[in-house]
Amino acid sequence: MSEADGTQHILVESREGVLCIRMNRPEKKNALTRAMYRIMADAIAQADADDAVRVILITGTGDCFTSGNDLADFRDASTSDRERERNPFMPAISRAKKPVVAAVSGVAVGIGTTMLLHCDLVYAGTGARFQLPFVNLGLCPELGSSVLLPLLMGHQRAAELLLLGEPFGAESARELGIVNGVCADAELLETAFGKARQLAAQPPASVRLTKALMKRAREVAVMTVMEEEIAHFGERLRSPEAAEAFQAFAERRKPDFSRFK
Ligand code: COA
Repeated sequence: MSEADGTQHILVESREGVLCIRMNRPEKKNALTRAMYRIMADAIAQADADDAVRVILITGTGDCFTSGNDLADFRDASTSDRERERNPFMPAISRAKKPVVAAVSGVAVGIGTTMLLHCDLVYAGTGARFQLPFVNLGLCPELGSSVLLPLLMGHQRAAELLLLGEPFGAESARELGIVNGVCADAELLETAFGKARQLAAQPPASVRLTKALMKRAREVAVMTVMEEEIAHFGERLRSPEAAEAFQAFAERRKPDFSRFK
């Protein structure tokens, strides 16, 4: 089991009809590498194909859901000549047929927040911290969030989250509609697993159909904008603004965008 194949960083287990995907790289705040995305995408496909699985549960470790894409991977992608590899997790989470429950404790940055827009039920611990720092990094939104966030909360509130990119807490996430419920961090997994179990006891075909019907109206818009976001994101990764942001993160300093126009 090597570091590169990511198997120790994503733990997958099935219990009581619930397939649990745990992001498990706490030493890097569960930052997601390409290998980890691949395992998560495969786990979602496996859940959709397995009649014994009724619900997918995504969670992280004690004090972190995920700090988002591994910034070192972003930096590598920005300096390579080849087009950025497609992230297999994006179509997988956005097209999952079975219901997805998320249990968020600690930091949920970047894709750690945008993936929640594709989940069906989201629970957060009181200590959860959300952030969409794409602009702060010289990038642009991904995973359909440029259409899903304004749809969910209106333009101005989405603009605040995306353009200023400041962190926000669990209660704000609940008010904004990203999160269904907030509970004590110690009770989070039990709460989310309880909801997942409740969902697993519902008639499965009816659950899948209802999920599909609810998502249908916005499906085309989401897929279209995701393609656009991917194209822009690839370009933004190679931009001088992003280079400054990645360098600043590596040097643990504030980025300086004053020279850009
Ligand atoms: N990619 C790569 N490494 C990351 C990471 C990421 N997204 N997020 C955290 N890490 C690493 C840190 O570099 C550090 O590694 P080190 O111990 O080898 O120096 C370790 O994880 C712990 O992070 P640290 O910053 O010390 O923890 P913190 O509690 O002070 O802050 C965060 C946590 C998540 C707020 C902060 O790490 C952060 O802002 N990370 C970047 C998030 C981001 O921009 N993600 C991309 C979104 S598109």
